[in-house]
Amino acid sequence: VLEEEAHWIRTVLDELPDDAFPLLNLGSGARAVRERNEPYADRLIFQPLAARGVRVIHADIKAAEGVDVVLDFTSATDRATLAGRVGPVRTIACSNVLEHLSISPADAAAHLLDMCPGSCFVIVTVPKRFGYHPDPVDNGFRPTADELATLFSGSVVLRKADVRGPILAVVQASYQGWLRYLVRVLMPFYKPHVWWGQVTWFWRRAEVACVLVRKDEPGADS
Ligand SMILES: C[S@@+](CC[C@H](N)C(=O)[O-])C[C@H]1O[C@@H](n2cnc3c(N)ncnc32)[C@H](O)[C@@H]1O
Repeated sequence: VLEEEAHWIRTVLDELPDDAFPLLNLGSGARAVRERNEPYADRLIFQPLAARGVRVIHADIKAAEGVDVVLDFTSATDRATLAGRVGPVRTIACSNVLEHLSISPADAAAHLLDMCPGSCFVIVTVPKRFGYHPDPVDNGFRPTADELATLFSGSVVLRKADVRGPILAVVQASYQGWLRYLVRVLMPFYKPHVWWGQVTWFWRRAEVACVLVRKDEPGADS
């Protein structure tokens, strides 16, 4: 997550009512990512939620320290058993995950809505301008916020934004350090696809498509 994106998520979370929790942070990654590699994620998103006293459940397909629930949300069994494992979820935040799936973005969006019983909020972010970065796959999905919002056309799109971050060279250097990044730039023949992903548009600003949608319970007034 980029710092500017974390600011956007924070703003959106601040607007949600207290009954919009627990929040499932889907594709959370390990605690070290949000607290050490990207400390602004913890400062802007998770510490304010802790101060508010609401419950956050970190879920990921990979077990790691700081992952509360290991689940693959593309698996029907994992989706069906989630409520039994963690109780009802009222908001799902899913940042920078849809580009790493081998199912279609439309199916992924439908699964996200599936995972909360009744009405709920879904916050989704996907890189819009960002190089190839497999984890373990990169399916090339790089939507605008408008395109991302169309995946949720059956729900109410409350907010959408194309959020700009720093230039991509700065983003890459923040992950690996300037020295390693500059050495990497000089090695195009080592994993050329990954190399290309790290240098593509390096002078342009990273962008992330962000949406907040509300799923209403069938038959409920909205
Ligand atoms: C690029 S990281 C994003 C981490 C964090 N959400 C952020 O924005 O910085 C993508 C994460 O999604 C997880 N992931 C990928 N496929 C998943 C799936 N099917 N179900 C749950 N998590 C998944 C990966 O293990 C990884 O931790």
